[in-house]
Amino acid sequence: MPALVLLGAQWGDEGKGKATDLLGGSVDYVVRYQGGNNAGHTVVVGDQKYALHLLPSGILSPGCTPVIGNGVVVDPSVLFSELSGLNERGVDTSKLLISGNAHIITPYNVTVDKVTERFLGKRKIGTTGRGIGPTYADKINRVGIRVQDLYDESILTQKVEAALDVKNQMLTKLYNRRAIATGQVVEELLGYADKLAPYVADTVLVLNQALDDDKVVLFEGGQGTLLDIDHGTYPFVTSSNPTAGGACTGAGVGPTKISRVIGILKAYTTRVGAGPFPTELFDEDGEALRRIGGERGVTTGRDRRCGWFDAVIARYATRVNGLTDFFLTKLDVLTGWEQIPVCVAYEIDGKRVEELPYSQSDFHHAKPVYEMLPGWSEDISKAKSFAELPKNAQAYVKALEEMSGAPISAIGVGPGRDETIEINSFL
Ligand code: GDP
Ligand code: IMO
Ligand code: MG
Repeated sequence: MPALVLLGAQWGDEGKGKATDLLGGSVDYVVRYQGGNNAGHTVVVGDQKYALHLLPSGILSPGCTPVIGNGVVVDPSVLFSELSGLNERGVDTSKLLISGNAHIITPYNVTVDKVTERFLGKRKIGTTGRGIGPTYADKINRVGIRVQDLYDESILTQKVEAALDVKNQMLTKLYNRRAIATGQVVEELLGYADKLAPYVADTVLVLNQALDDDKVVLFEGGQGTLLDIDHGTYPFVTSSNPTAGGACTGAGVGPTKISRVIGILKAYTTRVGAGPFPTELFDEDGEALRRIGGERGVTTGRDRRCGWFDAVIARYATRVNGLTDFFLTKLDVLTGWEQIPVCVAYEIDGKRVEELPYSQSDFHHAKPVYEMLPGWSEDISKAKSFAELPKNAQAYVKALEEMSGAPISAIGVGPGRDETIEINSFL
């Protein structure tokens, strides 16, 4: 049976949580493969709303095993507060599996994230301040702490010491902060060991055996294609690979196992944090998208920057992820506009450009070239089939599909599980 990847096709917050939850009832495993609690995935089930950060959205589907893969960075304090929050609401979280190879976000990496951002001043990335970048930096520098290290005190102490050697020099001499004591960090981390133990597993083995046994595995990306460390708008990106290849490295599953890659695509565009955003609006339309779409960050509570749909970005997402399908979300938010501009190309230094430029300087100068599509005023939130959508909404979806390079197989017309129009089945 297939392995599916579900990922963000823009700058995050496309509605991945809702899409994962929708499929969660029909899949056996939902796996996070990168990122950490920088993510904020909203799932609405009936009158209940859940905000998930580190846990895979599949945790809300009783038949499904949620997995935190080796590519994820785990803040244990966040993990336990998220688990207990769900337990208090009656959600069974006992099936959760966490890779022993996943890296731990240590308290000093949260500190480093915050002080480096402050130090960057006007040039800051606008990170979520959750220690994500410094934890991945430690992983690449080979001074990271892994989940499995909590079960060998001597190794843990040596590793924390090695990591703090340089960091304390930096914290005290450059950033004017107090040094962090190894013993204190080791004690705090060891305090999580017993509580974490029941969840720790060789998730690579579990997932590959599950695929051999014809189980359905869904990989849930955090963030989005344009926030990818390699393929995003570097340096205004996150420090991992949300793109499809990240599912292979971040979960230990070979590319030959993946049969479907679903890009979650908002019917307009949003972005949180700094960095280029060609279709960004600074007028009342942007304000209206923010208000109607409820565009406020789930993790940091920051207002999201809003703009029109950008087909250049969508085409790029199709290419770098090998998308087989799109799930178009929040079409309902566009109800009421007489005309809806869609960016079909850029103008860069007087020239029309059809594809995303690889050069950062060019992208910073990119001006959107808009095509106007006719809007609709009918309420579409109750529509159950494509045919029930007003003609102009149908034409908007078809135009986006044509421009974006992969079929739109589902359409979101509201935040709830059942507020979805299914066109092609994902399974
Ligand atoms: P994620 O990070 O990709 O999971 O997305 P977020 O949860 O951060 O943001 C998406 C927001 O849009 C959440 O508030 C969802 O409840 C909401 N949402 C998802 N799909 C739809 C949709 O089709 N229509 C509307 N109106 N809201 C949606
Ligand atoms: P979900 O999964 C939107 C952004 C931050 C910042 C940049 C780097 O909900 O779509 P980081 O803390 O990761 O080092 O910050 O990435 N960012 C997100 N933006 N949605 C997210 O997650 C994000 N996770 C990180 O705002 O610009
Ligand atoms: Mg989000």
